Amino acid sequence: SKGTYPFFMLKEIDEQPIVMRRLVEKYTDDHGNIVLPEDLLKALQQADRLYIVAAGTSYHAGLVGAPLFEQLAGIPTEVHVASEFAYHQPLLSKHPLFIFLTQSGETADIRQVLVSVKERGYQTLTITNVASSTLAREATFMLQLHGGPEIAVASTKAYTAQIAVEALVSKAVGEAKGLQAAKDFDVIHELGLAATGQQALIDQKDRIHELATDMFKTTRNAFYIGRGDDYYASMEAALKLKEISYVQAEGFAAGELKHGTIALIEKNTPVVAIISDPVTAARTRSNADEVQARGAKVLHIAMASQAQDGDQIVVDEINPLLAPLLTIIPAQLLAYFTSADRGYDVDRPRNLAKSVTVE
Ligand code: M6R
Repeated sequence: SKGTYPFFMLKEIDEQPIVMRRLVEKYTDDHGNIVLPEDLLKALQQADRLYIVAAGTSYHAGLVGAPLFEQLAGIPTEVHVASEFAYHQPLLSKHPLFIFLTQSGETADIRQVLVSVKERGYQTLTITNVASSTLAREATFMLQLHGGPEIAVASTKAYTAQIAVEALVSKAVGEAKGLQAAKDFDVIHELGLAATGQQALIDQKDRIHELATDMFKTTRNAFYIGRGDDYYASMEAALKLKEISYVQAEGFAAGELKHGTIALIEKNTPVVAIISDPVTAARTRSNADEVQARGAKVLHIAMASQAQDGDQIVVDEINPLLAPLLTIIPAQLLAYFTSADRGYDVDRPRNLAKSVTVE
């Protein structure tokens, strides 16, 4: 039940720190080692390329996962939208392994891919919140998100749980391969930082509510911009705003703005800049300055080490590979308050179903 919460979405946003801690508990032993099924670990070590296939929010979590698998586990990784991959497959590597990210485990577009790659004899791993689901049963391997039931149509805790599980799995594979980058990545510590940092943001709900009013109260459109993981978080942030508040929102690669889209910026266009990646922070900030100079109303979400005076939301420091675990929290809350204040049924947005079981 949603208890004293007005909507499940707000309850599920609040549960994210608990889910981070629960995942550490479920995936590690008393010595702090990550526990994965032996045969899965072996299959991942033997894979020469990973194909992450997913839809919607889970696709966005896959985008954040790819650099984790590449940098920590040393495996080239591609991320694909399931409905595209089903009918337009790229040339596959010799020993591919397919990862299906899916909260519900029932998404028809993914099942279409699963059936076809299984026919060809490839190994598959489903990462899902529902252990008894179709995609959990039909894949070679299954890992759970341990998020607890997610009722709101807008996915929140499944997104952060998916990123956390991707981090745990990449770390385990990289360590098994003896890779230094994996050894240096203290995933238990990082997920602890994620939990604490998320809580700190959740505790600022009232202020984020005010920012939502200021930025989005009456707008018909909005932009989220960033680079790298900040771009992927922007895509997810925009999807949240679109699906529950019906604001036409775009998550955009900050550097691409000047190649056309900046023409849409006019007086008071809301633009949220996500700035966590130390490599590109200065560049994204100057892109934000450019739109501000053209009249945009800019909200900065910055990681502590990259923050400047005047940034409205500052998130705690975390390994940049995991930044979306923190930067997405204010974006979820901004979308939530925009929808609730406009009087919409936050949990059940129009035209949408919780699991999409038709192609
Ligand atoms: O159950 P799945 O993770 O496979 O669902 C995928 C998408 O349908 C889902 O993430 C959808 O985009 C959400 N409504 C986003 O909030």
